[in-house]
Amino acid sequence: MGIKKYIEELRQKREEAKLGGGPKRIDVQHAKGKLTARERLEKLLDEGSFRELDMFVTHRATKFGMAERKILGDGVVTGYGTIDGRLVFVFAQDFTVFGGSLGEAHAAKICKVMDLAMKNGAPVIGLNDSGGARIQEGVMSLAGYAEIFLRNTLASGLIPQISAIMGPCAGGAVYSPAIMDFIIMVKGISHMFITGPEVIKAVTREEVTFEELGGANVHASKSGVAHFMADNEDECFRIIRSLLSYIPQNNMEDPPFVPTEDDPNRQDLELDEIVPESPTRPYDIKEVIRRVVDNGEFLEVHTNYAPNIVVGFARLGGFSVGIVANQPKVLAGAIDIDASVKGARFVRFCDAFNIPLVVFEDVPGYLPGVAQEHGGIIRNGAKLLYAFCEATVPRITVITRKAYGGAYCVMNSRHIRGDLVLAWPTAEIAVMGPEGAVNIIFRRELAQAEDPEALREKLVRDYRAEFANPYVAASRGFVDNIIEPHETRPRLIEALRMLQNKRDANPPKKHGNIPL
Ligand code: HXC
Repeated sequence: MGIKKYIEELRQKREEAKLGGGPKRIDVQHAKGKLTARERLEKLLDEGSFRELDMFVTHRATKFGMAERKILGDGVVTGYGTIDGRLVFVFAQDFTVFGGSLGEAHAAKICKVMDLAMKNGAPVIGLNDSGGARIQEGVMSLAGYAEIFLRNTLASGLIPQISAIMGPCAGGAVYSPAIMDFIIMVKGISHMFITGPEVIKAVTREEVTFEELGGANVHASKSGVAHFMADNEDECFRIIRSLLSYIPQNNMEDPPFVPTEDDPNRQDLELDEIVPESPTRPYDIKEVIRRVVDNGEFLEVHTNYAPNIVVGFARLGGFSVGIVANQPKVLAGAIDIDASVKGARFVRFCDAFNIPLVVFEDVPGYLPGVAQEHGGIIRNGAKLLYAFCEATVPRITVITRKAYGGAYCVMNSRHIRGDLVLAWPTAEIAVMGPEGAVNIIFRRELAQAEDPEALREKLVRDYRAEFANPYVAASRGFVDNIIEPHETRPRLIEALRMLQNKRDANPPKKHGNIPL
């Protein structure tokens, strides 16, 4: 009988902590179409796996009546659990407590799980729903953010960091998700911005709604801040779980191998028909990807941002791979500023976490234009080049059609340590396309010709026969093999097996200086 009252007290405190800001505020949260922090964690993690830490932590602020307003947990639920049986560390901000705002104690709780995640080599997942810096705590809350930013940076490349935005995320608060590896925004309930519509109106006189300024759609398509856009919270959790299935727990591990029923020797004759006869006609590179990978499953990242390059995760014969592909359907697959930055960030993630890269190449070059030049295509275009150059994971390229100019070098060519370059017979590897090339090298002849059109046609035909094919590159060994499109899947899987124990390294240094 003796200790029962203590157990009773503990139970009561636990129940109190679980109520966060109380039933009324929970109702308001639900009325906004949002789940509470605990409901979210329950849905995200394996059933019954969540172990909470710091449930009884409270803030130490005294000003602005805060001494009387202490709520167990201080507006963030933290701890660890499993996803598909694998350890993850989590924090979920509780909007029902001071609007999920971040003060000293709240920040310390997040820092604690991040430290544990780093020491134990497991991913960290943050569910953000917060009014930002807790105004009543002043500089203590700014200090708290800075402590988190530091840990996000130190953890970068060490453990995967995933951030779901499930409510407001404003001001400097956005920089924690921004440093993490992936941001998922949920349609309708999430907003991210540095300064909100009111401040913008006062400073620049621009009028804009929350949604237009920093909603999921804007960040998933225009700014590229969000890697994924989920229709609802359930889809957000599905994306996180799926994403984790492709990536290792930390930078010292390999990604999980998932045995597949999909025959590694499966050949797809439709692939032989996919590249159109005319070199200017587009086709959908995602169709190629789906036909080649295990079960046609492809988790695309940044689907609506810079769609002229396609990046995402898939499996080949059970091996997790990161796919980077030019998309001939958009801007003819040309690389512009956004595509380079998108591709570079993805390549660096895969390289940091030992995920082999498979590249499908059909690229007419970097995108011409004054806006691109003045926007810094030189500096930004260099990012993709740099990212591929420094990557030491297994790297395989399949050239499906065009591989022109600088873009040929960039897209995982052998010269920059691509391990295996395969070309379809439809590949055209040259400094530029036949029309452009003929106009330049035969300018004088064309100007003097009696029938310049007839001459141009002949010269283009000759040039195509000479250069716009994979055989010149293959004769130099720059292309390792020319394969029939239908055998792409088996050839890629064999290559991944061959490269399974690849070891390569960069010269020792503090860090490189990627052109940011
Ligand atoms: C303290 C806050 C708060 C904050 C919200 N609350 N934000 N308390 N500090 N930053 C409290 C509210 O007072 C309210 O308390 C409760 O949370 C719910 O807020 P509501 O306003 O009722 O909710 P809603 O209408 O949904 O509006 C949500 C909101 C709004 C858009 C986030 O609360 C808001 O604009 N908050 C201020 C955002 C902001 O400017 N933050 C600072 C950003 S700068 P009661 O008790 O009344 O229910 C920043 C710098 C970080 O974060 C720097 C890092 C380097």
